Amino acid sequence: MPIYQSATFSSADAAELAAVLTDQEPGYAYSRVDNPTTAALATAVAELEGAETGYAFASGMAAIHAALLSLVGAGDRIVATRAVYGSTRSLLARVLTRLGVAVEWVDVADLDGVERALVQAPARVLYAETISNPTIVVADHRALADLAHRHGAVYVVDNTFASPYLCRPVELGADLVVESATKYLSGHSDVLAGVVAGSRERVAAVRDVQIDTGGSLAPLAAFLVLRGLPTLALRMERHSDSAAALAAWLERQAGVERVIHPSLASHPQRAVADRQLARGGGMLAVQLTGGRAAGAAFIDALAFTERTASLGSVHTMVVHPPSTTHRQLDDAALRDAGIAPGLLRISVGLEDPEDLQADLERGLAAATAVDRVPVVRDR
Ligand SMILES: Cc1ncc(COP(=O)(O)O)c(C=O)c1O
Repeated sequence: MPIYQSATFSSADAAELAAVLTDQEPGYAYSRVDNPTTAALATAVAELEGAETGYAFASGMAAIHAALLSLVGAGDRIVATRAVYGSTRSLLARVLTRLGVAVEWVDVADLDGVERALVQAPARVLYAETISNPTIVVADHRALADLAHRHGAVYVVDNTFASPYLCRPVELGADLVVESATKYLSGHSDVLAGVVAGSRERVAAVRDVQIDTGGSLAPLAAFLVLRGLPTLALRMERHSDSAAALAAWLERQAGVERVIHPSLASHPQRAVADRQLARGGGMLAVQLTGGRAAGAAFIDALAFTERTASLGSVHTMVVHPPSTTHRQLDDAALRDAGIAPGLLRISVGLEDPEDLQADLERGLAAATAVDRVPVVRDR
């Protein structure tokens, strides 16, 4: 797909320009609205997601923002998963509530609790992540979509951690799928992008918001994400193999309280994962016994693995969410989101798993050393 590096596109005459600008005729007039390269990306991702159509954005957050604004206004209510990416939580709790939208937080693994929240007052949206950031809760899309529809809500799913290779939420009943293409879809941590996929009618409403809010994806960025798509399947297989092997190994190590990965028998939603995910994916969470200081010591000791706030890349990345991705949350909100102070999130890359294990061994040695010196930990 060529990079249509152009802000504007000319028409044959005034009538054609007017028809394109008002969607009476297909075509391109202005790249904030539509651009051939970004449209090709949106179409490709919609196809992967099994959705009718899609629309691309400058980032995952731009996609989530436009998707939600297409559905809610002042006086509306959103029921949202408590286990959610930090900026999404902030968008809901700070930005949308300031505009008069009410947000109710639920545990999506507790279907009775979700139903109670939907029954308590009318909700416009039920919002979940296929695999949650950073606590790896797996949402039962079929059950949640049924509940949403029974109670008149639109079911919106963030599929970033899974990618359409592991899960296709639209086929399980989701109305709109939002995704940060910055992560697995592009795969190489060299571009920011987002996508929304769903029915023609719902995506048209999202596009209308985007036209007026302007989070447009640049054509070069769309090209870079498109370049990642042909290797998505290969990458997701390798991410899943390596993450499953490391998760099983980590579960046996000293200083580790808990490992959370959909491939483990100990995962609380293992049955849902078996039904709904093609593989376990590349994201895993590790809870260290030593708490916050052990988490910091662990990442400081890594020699090979990237210390960064992103995920879904060819490179392995380890983050300590309380100090990075979820830094917007105070201690109470962290607890509410189920995030322990010693929680590490590992995005397992494509490197040799033996090299990765050796690096994690270094991290664990540093973490357990801190754990044995309580004076240091208490400071
Ligand atoms: C689950 C999830 N959704 C959305 C986003 C936002 O994506 P972006 O950084 O492309 O705006 C992220 C970013 O980390 C994420 O992890």
